[in-house]
Amino acid sequence: MYISTLKLDHFRNYGSLDLEFSAGANLFYGDNAQGKTNILEAVYFCGTTRSHRTARDSEMICFGAQEAHLRMEMKKKSVDYRIDMHLKAGRAKGIAINGVAIRKAQELIGLGHFVFFSPEDLGIIKNGPAQRRRFLDMELCQLDKIYVSSLAGYNKVLLQRNRLLKDLSFRPEDMGTLDVWDEQLVRYGSVLIRSRERFVERLREIIRPIHSKLSGGREEMEIGYEKNVPVDAFAEGVRKSRDKDLLLKSTGRGPHRDDLSFLVNGVDIRKYGSQGQQRSAALSLKLAEIELVKESTGDIPVLLLDDVLSELDTGRQHYLLDSIGQIQTFITCTGLEEYADSPVQIDRIFQVTEGCAIRK
Ligand SMILES: Nc1ncnc2c1ncn2[C@@H]1O[C@H](COP(=O)(O)OP(=O)(O)OP(=O)(O)O)[C@@H](O)[C@H]1O
Ligand SMILES: [Mg+2]
Repeated sequence: MYISTLKLDHFRNYGSLDLEFSAGANLFYGDNAQGKTNILEAVYFCGTTRSHRTARDSEMICFGAQEAHLRMEMKKKSVDYRIDMHLKAGRAKGIAINGVAIRKAQELIGLGHFVFFSPEDLGIIKNGPAQRRRFLDMELCQLDKIYVSSLAGYNKVLLQRNRLLKDLSFRPEDMGTLDVWDEQLVRYGSVLIRSRERFVERLREIIRPIHSKLSGGREEMEIGYEKNVPVDAFAEGVRKSRDKDLLLKSTGRGPHRDDLSFLVNGVDIRKYGSQGQQRSAALSLKLAEIELVKESTGDIPVLLLDDVLSELDTGRQHYLLDSIGQIQTFITCTGLEEYADSPVQIDRIFQVTEGCAIRK
């Protein structure tokens, strides 16, 4: 699949924008804060209904405007799809596929697949577990509709349960309602744990040869799913930690405390990896993600590379570009000179200045 056009109206710093893309590599260059990432964000948002940087849709409406419109056209197996999005402060976003409004954002999931790679992703190994859980959630939400609704359900229950834990010191008579939340926590949470198990299992297989090749055969990579609690011990675990939860006023057990581990030649590189090792592992993870999308959907994802090529040395740049092959790519950078000696073949170039993007 590939994205053919994007139209923006009062989205971020774009008053209006109308672009046609190449099915190959599209490059956006310009100074800082001109609107390059905003274009990638718009593509990702139209494709997945989520922004990679904010959970609040209204933040994306242009300052001073009441609403924003986005329109993206894509081609998949020679069929055209048009996605329209409408944002208005204080309202749920409106989405239409080929002019037909959809009721739930989930209905868009699976139409296209997108892999976003930003400089923050290079820190996924060394940063905290929250970023690794976010990676799991963002990927699984694109691949699995049941995961999307279970995650929404789980987050809601977790919030309510934590609120109740705080309130119970004033209203101990409400203790009985805790059982209801516990049961729902386990119900939704078990779906998340099982999906994560399957996902990490596949990822583990796929990443091994990728990382071995990237490291010139020197490193063996092993990804692990560090679950806070296994499914069959979840209900019991929540029951047992109730006293502690009441004391700390927060929920101690569940997949909101999960993590991913990364072992290279048996060493935990989250703690002991060199910077280069951690970056290589992050790159392998992204490449594995592309393979996994291909394998589980039969579709080739669109790759969004925000400012990352310049962060990689030429060896890794080469490897990345060799691996992605026929994928449609959106690349941002600050200067064209970064690409003068790079192996990247660019098919279309846009210059971005103060909320305008002009094809060069
Ligand atoms: N809701 C909004 N309305 C108007 N402008 C916004 C909004 N949100 C962000 N901006 C502006 O968009 C600009 C940032 O755009 P973006 O992040 O795309 O920059 P960039 O070109 O990627 O820069 P860099 O090279 O630093 O990454 C900033 O000037 C910011 O103030
Ligand atoms: Mg940027």
